[in-house]
Amino acid sequence: MKPRLASTLALILLVGAAHAQQQPLAPTGRWGHQPVGSAPTPPMGWSSWNAFQMDLTEQKVLDSAQVIVDTGLAAAGYRSINVDDGWWLQRRLADGRMQVRTGLFPSAGTGGAAGTSLRPFTDRIHALGLKAGLYSDIGRNACSQAYNTDSPNLPEGTQAEREVGLMGNVERDIALYFGEWNFDFLKVDGCGLSSYGKDRPPVTSGRFREFGPTVVEGNANQSDIEGARALYGRVTQALRSVRPRGDYVLSVCLWGAANVRSWGAEVGTMWRSSRDIASGFPQMVHNFDTVATREFYAGPGRWNDPDMLEIGNGDFDGKHLLEARTHLGLWAIVAAPLMIGTDLSKVSPAIIDLLKAPEVVAINQDPAGHQGVIAYADSDRQILVKTLADGRKAVLLFNRGGANAKFTLTAEHLKMDATTPIALRDAWARADAGTFTGKKEFELQPREALLFTATGKHVLPRGYFVSERPGNVFVARDGIRALEADPIVYRSLASWSVSDNGGTRPAYAGWGAPRADSTPYDEALRVQNVTFRHGVGALADSRLQVQVPAGSQRFAARVGVDDSTRGKTAGVSFEVWGDGRRLAATPPMRFNQAARELSADLRGVKLVELVARQHGPDAAGPVVVTWGEARIE
Ligand code: GLA
Repeated sequence: MKPRLASTLALILLVGAAHAQQQPLAPTGRWGHQPVGSAPTPPMGWSSWNAFQMDLTEQKVLDSAQVIVDTGLAAAGYRSINVDDGWWLQRRLADGRMQVRTGLFPSAGTGGAAGTSLRPFTDRIHALGLKAGLYSDIGRNACSQAYNTDSPNLPEGTQAEREVGLMGNVERDIALYFGEWNFDFLKVDGCGLSSYGKDRPPVTSGRFREFGPTVVEGNANQSDIEGARALYGRVTQALRSVRPRGDYVLSVCLWGAANVRSWGAEVGTMWRSSRDIASGFPQMVHNFDTVATREFYAGPGRWNDPDMLEIGNGDFDGKHLLEARTHLGLWAIVAAPLMIGTDLSKVSPAIIDLLKAPEVVAINQDPAGHQGVIAYADSDRQILVKTLADGRKAVLLFNRGGANAKFTLTAEHLKMDATTPIALRDAWARADAGTFTGKKEFELQPREALLFTATGKHVLPRGYFVSERPGNVFVARDGIRALEADPIVYRSLASWSVSDNGGTRPAYAGWGAPRADSTPYDEALRVQNVTFRHGVGALADSRLQVQVPAGSQRFAARVGVDDSTRGKTAGVSFEVWGDGRRLAATPPMRFNQAARELSADLRGVKLVELVARQHGPDAAGPVVVTWGEARIE
């Protein structure tokens, strides 16, 4: 290839990569999220990992499935029975066909040319009225092969036979798992990209082929984000061709690494936002924190995943029902997938009842699919509010601290009128909990979370704030130019961590992404000293898509450069687009200018795009913008 042509091509590739990461600023008029599979509400089920790790057997899985049916957990919605790591024996080299460890899954022994098949297993699961899930890895090798080295259930054979991950076999494996074997759910882990570098024990031992690492946990800069995205994208494509009806769930397991919190929805139905959960309370809280500020990334068909439940285990067992309720309440308010992770043959009836809690599960499964938004936060207390499809609000009060804590819940937290009574219903007690006007006091025990639904009059005479319906928003472009670790995610106390080093550091990229009722850097929304309790905070050069319900008439907001901005010189114009047409715009606005009223006629419009366009560079850093009181009337 001629050098000039080569460098032009390289340039095109580079520009292409930058674009793939950040969609252009130009409005498209088309909703940017294409669902992967089908999960209109957060997936629910049971997974073998937190319960059995590498000691799973077909019988244990079937027993759990039976308990799920017999106890009414299935009727409550927990229907996907997911086999995690540990099921495979080896890849058959003659034809690449994956072989099952029949010592663990006896029904897989077909005796025929196929060798083994999990079809008898999925048939049994389906006969129970349930769905079946399986596990693989995006690389050549899986997590257990790197981290569960003492297990007798690791893949066997030559190095090539032990390469059980999808790499190099995507189309073949997906056709086997979803075609022939008829699975409904696949979790695709990422250890193959992260744990097989040349200095790592699996490779230095000579047992595994070196790969990368192309994903570095805790360091997005050293991760090949586009590479990881392309690998998962290939799985998405394979699934779309094997199951064109879209009747599946693809669970991306990259632990919040490689900025997956920002692009998971493009390749998966759900994506892990954090490292593995453990059965200790602090680790659970850490995992919760990794999704709690990502409200604009979830919605029907796309779910932030703080990991499988630990209810029934450790700090959340039958002796710790308060903590167990808190765990489920937190997962409910952020619309997280609910995957039970305990040995159901051993848990107490109280835990089963707790998992079934109909009004709590209903909050999680609300069809509008909005994630709860943080309405109040300090070091120890949080209040989150989730808009429900029928206009009620679910509200969770969480005492993270070690002492009793007083809370004041206000009508403003709920975006309700402060002069009209608000009726509360306790989602756990399934009982009305009285009414209040303006505000109400609570006292919570350590680690306690209360969960209510609230009915009242909206604070707006007509319509709603964009920030109340985050599931209707798609972040087409976040405006982030340089990835930074998110400093407000509580630093993880990993179950395996020791304190002989400098500590766990902020590990997840995405800092600077748009937020509901907050700036992207977790400040109050404020333009020239006017604070907006409701609104959308973003960086300049962002584009947010907002679905508009039929019958809407008007978009309105008070916009400006936020007082907390880093870049203080560049101008930013605010534009409102409707179905691809520019409806309204401001001239360039600057730091320390008062907010301007911006409104647009929305009659007949289905999709609004909010563009904050920066004019010229700003050496001091990103320009923070505020769509104050952004609302649809
Ligand atoms: C990783 C995942 C876990 C589990 C294990 C299996 O650690 O994050 O959820 O699937 O691998 O080895």
